Amino acid sequence: MEPAQAGQVVVIGSGLIGRSWAMVFAGGGFRVKLYDVVQQQITTALEYISKEMKELEKSGMLKGTLSAEKQLSLISGCTDLKTAVEGAMFIQECTPEKLELKKKIFGQLDLIVNNDVILSSSTSTLLPTKLFTGLKHVKQCIVAHPVNPPYYVPLVELVPHPETEPSTVDKTHALMKKIGQSPVRLIKEIDGFVLNRLQYAVISEAWRLVGEGVISPADLDLVMSDGLGMRYAFIGPLETMHLNAEGMTNYCERYREGMIHVLNTFGPVPDFSGEIEQQISQAMSEKTPADPEHLNARRAGRDECLMGLAKLKKQMKSN
Ligand code: NAI
Repeated sequence: MEPAQAGQVVVIGSGLIGRSWAMVFAGGGFRVKLYDVVQQQITTALEYISKEMKELEKSGMLKGTLSAEKQLSLISGCTDLKTAVEGAMFIQECTPEKLELKKKIFGQLDLIVNNDVILSSSTSTLLPTKLFTGLKHVKQCIVAHPVNPPYYVPLVELVPHPETEPSTVDKTHALMKKIGQSPVRLIKEIDGFVLNRLQYAVISEAWRLVGEGVISPADLDLVMSDGLGMRYAFIGPLETMHLNAEGMTNYCERYREGMIHVLNTFGPVPDFSGEIEQQISQAMSEKTPADPEHLNARRAGRDECLMGLAKLKKQMKSN
């Protein structure tokens, strides 16, 4: 990552995800305007970012090559949209997950932006055709869906609208790489994108296994955290197949029938309610009571583990 990049990025919405994006872009050396409709939100966000960056610097986990002080000097707050987007090369929208609100914001942006800036949304669930259809600048629009917390989990799903120019996808991909994220391209939109489709497949089978009395909720989670998850932090499911036999073709020859047999025993989509919900909720609450204090402590623990894992992955790559 080079210091002091040319160009300015605008982050719209200074909540959980907007703050993280601001930190990631500043880490890449970009000037960042953090825009929000609520001044107090911006003030709180800037305080949070300052505290986080200083702590990250102390623990050696600050992204990029610039000091925390220099990165902080690149981020400023703004409550006027027109001023915020002036001279911007990339706009990352991070407002609440409400279609009408996001459509209104992209409609406002459509009226004031030039033909070069990229308009990107952090949405987790809204399809590009729902968000961007009809915009004058639709060629410049894309979804760049991060994973929480984006500072430690670098994946970004890039999802184009059918009318998005290929150069918009390429430029966004290059920008994400430059700021140290790990972008993947979806060739076309699909409900849940890819990450959540995989996640929901796992969640639904987990739910069925507990519901059918095969395993306890705590042990189910261990299957992932001490089993599959260990491997998946480094190698995806397709490469796992390739390595677990003498290559993919050999894996399919050996395990095709067995996989199909097991997959045919999977039950229907669960309704995620009733007795099974109560059983799982009770088990989860025994470990972490569902109040803000305990949940926040556990989230902080999770982030610390993710930070350690990110560090390890970086070390292993540089070896
Ligand atoms: P949040 O509720 O923490 O933050 C939303 C921010 O938007 C608030 O600061 C609010 O004041 C501001 N806002 C509201 N209306 C606005 C407007 N008209 N103009 C400018 N700012 C406005 O939400 P969060 O969690 O940061 O989510 C933002 C987006 O990121 C959503 O689309 C969400 O689906 C997506 N996302 C969230 C993830 C998560 O785990 N929280 C993960 C990946 C994506």
